[in-house]
Parts: sequence; C-alpha cells; structure tokens
Amino acid sequence: MGRYVITAGPTREHLDPVRFLTNPSTGKMGFAVARAAAERGHDVALIAGPVALKTPKGVRRIDVTSARDMLAAVEDAIGDGDCVFVATAAVADWRPASCADRKLKKGLMSDTIKLVRNPDILKGVKCRHKIGFAAETNDVMSEAARKCREKGLAMIVANDVTEKGAGFGTDTNRVTFLKADGSVERLPLMSKLAVARRIVRFAEGLA
Ligand code: PMT
Repeated sequence: MGRYVITAGPTREHLDPVRFLTNPSTGKMGFAVARAAAERGHDVALIAGPVALKTPKGVRRIDVTSARDMLAAVEDAIGDGDCVFVATAAVADWRPASCADRKLKKGLMSDTIKLVRNPDILKGVKCRHKIGFAAETNDVMSEAARKCREKGLAMIVANDVTEKGAGFGTDTNRVTFLKADGSVERLPLMSKLAVARRIVRFAEGLA
C-alpha cells in the first residue's frame, strides 16, 4: 500500500490575533480524498487548514493555520519523498508583511496592507508523484495546463468554481482531469467522494 499526503481547506494569514486573509474553502474536497485513500488501505496524512470537519477513519490529521505552517507540516509528512502528494488546499498566495502580536487599534491602522508572497507548497516540495487542483473562474483549461507544467504534476484537477454544484463548499464537484501526457478526462457532476475515488484510482496506476 502507498503513502499519501493530502492538503485540505484554506489557510489563514493573520494581520493581528483577530484579523486575517482567507478564502471560502471548507476542506470537503480534501477530506474526501483522504477518506478515499484510507478506504483503499493507504497510509494517509491529512494536513488541514482551519475547517469544521470530522477526521475520516484511519487518517492521521495535522491541523495548521498559515501557508508557512502548512508547508512545514507537508515537508515533515513527505519525508523521504516516496509518496503521492495531493494538494487540494486553497493556499493563500499572499500574507501581510507583518503580524502584530496584539490587536491593532483601528485609529492607528493604515488604509493599506503590505503583502508578501507565500511559498508555493505544491511547486516546491519533492516527492514521487504530485497531483494538484486548479480553482479557476476563466481560462480554466489553459491555466490548469500551465500549473500542471510549472509545478511538475502527474495530473491537475481543473475546477471551474463558477459552475453550479462545483468548487467551494458544495458536496458535489464537476472537474476535468488533465494529465501530464496531455490527455483530458471530463467528469460529470458527481459527489466529492466519487471525484476523490477517481483521483485515488488514477494515483494507484502511477508507476
Ligand atoms: O474545500 P472545498 O470547500 O471542498 O473546496 C474545494 C476547492 C475548490 C478548494 C478545491 O476543489 C480546489 O480547487 N482546490 C485548489 C484551490 C486553489 O487554490 O487552486 P490554485 O489554482 O490557486 O493552486 C494550484 C495548486 O497549487 C493547488 O493544488 C494548490 O493546493 C497549490 N498551491 C497553491 C498556492 C500555494 N501557495 N501553494 C500550493 O500548494
């Protein structure tokens, strides 16, 4: 059986202890992938941003807050790199340049926030097989293809988040698999668990 490392949910990038940048990811897609991999008997580490979901049976879960926390937990879980990494998390691409350790007083805050780039976890980590997601609102396939190439993926799951029943927060998803060999597989609207089982089946077929 294989080793799977999966990211899920959003990250939070704090400006102070009570304010942060984030996005609408609920973790449902990533938790479904973790469940699907565990059901098949794989060893699963699930690195989860702040979400309100129960841990699937047989899954080792590590909770994190920020993109940098997520990167550290992923590197730790990947270890020697002999695993499949499935990145479903909606990682914040930027974070505030600084984070105050006490609540910033409104009257003293500036109207602009200086941002710095977060590390690209999926692009940076080294492991045997990497599968990514691309949440897009336009130019879905060309953007997904670019990310697949630039991040060195075996497959990218293109997710048009403007489609009904797809993307953030839903129990269903409608996705297209774009594989490194250029082949394309469009899936119908199905449950996130059914999508997850198809992803795990694809990963099991990788050498
Ligand atoms: O959690 P749900 O509510 O179920 O919603 C599911 C989902 C919409 C979040 C999911 O299906 C999805 O599309 N996840 C990818 C979201 C995303 O941020 O995509 P992206 O195009 O920005 O990133 C491309 C890939 O790089 C992703 O695999 C992402 O995890 C990874 N990435 C991105 C930025 C970064 N700094 N580090 C990364 O690892």
